[in-house]
Amino acid sequence: MMSDEIAALGPWFQNLHLPDGTQTFPDHWLGDFPAFKWRQIAPHLPEDLTGWRALEIGCNAGFYAFELAKRGAQVTGIDSDPHFLAQARWAAARFGLESQVQFEQKQVYDLASTWETYDLVLFMGVFYHLRYPMLGLDIVARKVKKRLLFQTLTVPGEEVAEDTWDPPYTERERLLAPGWPRMAFLEHKFAGDPTNWWAPNRAGVEAMLRASGLRVTGRPGSEIYLCEPDPANPSSVRTWDAGQFQAATGLIPRLTKTLHFRHCWVNSSPGYTETCFHDGTRVEAMPEDSDEYRGKAARFGYGDDLEGLSREHEILHTFLAEALGYGASPTLWAVAHGQQGVASYWEQVEEEGWTLAFQTYLHGGPETEPLRRLTDAGLDLVTLREEARKLLR
Ligand SMILES: C[S@@+](CC[C@H](N)C(=O)[O-])C[C@H]1O[C@@H](n2cnc3c(N)ncnc32)[C@H](O)[C@@H]1O
Repeated sequence: MMSDEIAALGPWFQNLHLPDGTQTFPDHWLGDFPAFKWRQIAPHLPEDLTGWRALEIGCNAGFYAFELAKRGAQVTGIDSDPHFLAQARWAAARFGLESQVQFEQKQVYDLASTWETYDLVLFMGVFYHLRYPMLGLDIVARKVKKRLLFQTLTVPGEEVAEDTWDPPYTERERLLAPGWPRMAFLEHKFAGDPTNWWAPNRAGVEAMLRASGLRVTGRPGSEIYLCEPDPANPSSVRTWDAGQFQAATGLIPRLTKTLHFRHCWVNSSPGYTETCFHDGTRVEAMPEDSDEYRGKAARFGYGDDLEGLSREHEILHTFLAEALGYGASPTLWAVAHGQQGVASYWEQVEEEGWTLAFQTYLHGGPETEPLRRLTDAGLDLVTLREEARKLLR
């Protein structure tokens, strides 16, 4: 009997509606959970997810993973609790979705040491269970190619302070304003559950999402946030604070090569490149997720190794800046110091232009206008190309 199997796998947290009409937790104290939440979220996601790879973190019995799979996505669900994963695997067979969903026992922190990224990531109902919430969010943000759906328990209050930029040391009372980003620490239990650790306010949620390099694009429901990567505002763990992330995750890149320049050095290992300045700041190379970038990777002989193309690009920034007599690459320096798009903005734009043009020229492309910046400075393109090829070998 289906109901005997359901009882044997209990207790349940999610009320799944199985194909034969039975439900796993019809008397849920939250109502028909999470079906009522899915009804809020569903219109905000593409109806056809064919070709999308999705990750659900804290998947529990797999409710959302199954909904994404029904829309055509290939889904990986992770959860730290084997009890819920047993429910999810059993239910996958009931829905006939075993070929589209896979479930793995993992902590959110385990994702730091995997290379996979996903078109869509669901991170719902987990953040407030984390003892190290910002670390968890930083790890999750790096997994997102297109969209993140985020949900957390929050404290009441919709206010969002507009100016949170650098208050003076003596103005601590500003931190007590209702809209200041904050989190309540739950030292003991909350709602009878000792695994609840934090409850941020709305301003705090939005600030932390921004700080992890994401842009909030919608709020499908109460406490639910839809986000996408914001390349113009990368997380500081991708720039000047990368060392903290590496130390916290224990991810010491397996270095295969270090290139020494006058004002910095570049560490490269498979899938990872960072430019390090002598003042301790860094910039991590980030491949773009675009058709144009993928096309360029294929044309330049990198196939689908987008990291390889971005490594080359980052190294060329420094190589050309030093050839032109700059102290350091203005762009990499600005990114490492949180001044991207602020300090010497036009210099950064122009630098991107001649670096891209040189990268194309390096791979047999034509001599285009931005290269005049190099020739006008008395540099010989053919010699420069030979030197770059030696460096990148
Ligand atoms: C409140 S439930 C949310 C389930 C589902 N995401 C939802 O929104 O309905 C929290 C789930 O996250 C899992 N979880 C808690 N801490 C976790 C961690 N550190 N890593 C992975 N999963 C975790 C729990 O086992 C549980 O299944």
